[in-house]
Amino acid sequence: MNKRTIFHRSISLVGLSGLIAVVVTGAFAEDNKPSKKLVVGFSQVGAESGWRTANTESIKSEAAKRGVDLRFSDAQQKEENQIKAIRSFIAEGVDVIAFSPVVETGFEPVLQEAKKAGIPVVLSDRAVKVSDPSLYKCFIGSDFIEEGRRAANEVAKLTGGKANVAELVGTVGSAPAIDRKKGFEEVMAKYPDMKIIMSQSGDFTRAKGKEVMEAFLKAPNAKDINVLFAHNDDMALGAIQAMEEAGIKPGVDIKIVSIDGVRGAFEAMKDGKLNVTVECNPLLGPQLFDLIEAVAAGKEVPHRVVTQEGVYEQSQAAAELPKRQY
Ligand code: AHR
Repeated sequence: MNKRTIFHRSISLVGLSGLIAVVVTGAFAEDNKPSKKLVVGFSQVGAESGWRTANTESIKSEAAKRGVDLRFSDAQQKEENQIKAIRSFIAEGVDVIAFSPVVETGFEPVLQEAKKAGIPVVLSDRAVKVSDPSLYKCFIGSDFIEEGRRAANEVAKLTGGKANVAELVGTVGSAPAIDRKKGFEEVMAKYPDMKIIMSQSGDFTRAKGKEVMEAFLKAPNAKDINVLFAHNDDMALGAIQAMEEAGIKPGVDIKIVSIDGVRGAFEAMKDGKLNVTVECNPLLGPQLFDLIEAVAAGKEVPHRVVTQEGVYEQSQAAAELPKRQY
């Protein structure tokens, strides 16, 4: 019998005066000790990519496994929705607020409100830019700059350092778009014959990735493109469609390096259409809730937790595919 069942049974047995007592004291665990569910407000970026779907699933299933009362809100890629959701979490008096910020800037005022209300904040996946680092307890997520560096190293390997790169950038102003570009350009600077000849945002979605690639392929210098660097797999998969419709062989005529490591990317690699995916692990649920529980218990946590990730090439795709969890 779970705690919720015990809670309901208590209500039916004790009548109205008892009901008040139960409501005040909360539910009872099987050992009859009072227990209070941890209430966590989580504001998610949206549902823009396969990565995000896997991330949401990991968070929801981990919360359910631990009996956490998760108040989940989807910001649909809009910062204003996210700020609104965080304000509601503050008004509800949740124990901990966690969120994956759509963009880096603009969160300082609402984070100050959370601090004033005494509600700790944990950042998941993406960072914010704030002048006061104590506005959040911890940030768990990938090193996006390193992912960009890894992608550029793969481009150099694939092309012998001679690359005219078309770049599909992620959501403008988001930490992964800013940092992946930064890391990529840092490595590219070491190769005089590697340059970005086109760059535009595809907002991390497959549809936008396709649309922007179609535009790239219509540009006067389109025939110079020999590499596509996509800030995520979904945009690369959209771009692959655009290339095929234009009679271009993806992965052959234009080498493709992208980031995430979702199953669709492994399938495309197996088919020879994508060359490399740099992993960005979305399965943050277990680690995230370890941190949230520690923060709720008033324990010290590291201010930054970096997730461990790899790089996968075409030759590894067939063997790796059955093992992919997302
Ligand atoms: O913040 C992580 C990025 O967001 C992933 O690379 C992308 O697929 C997602 O939409």
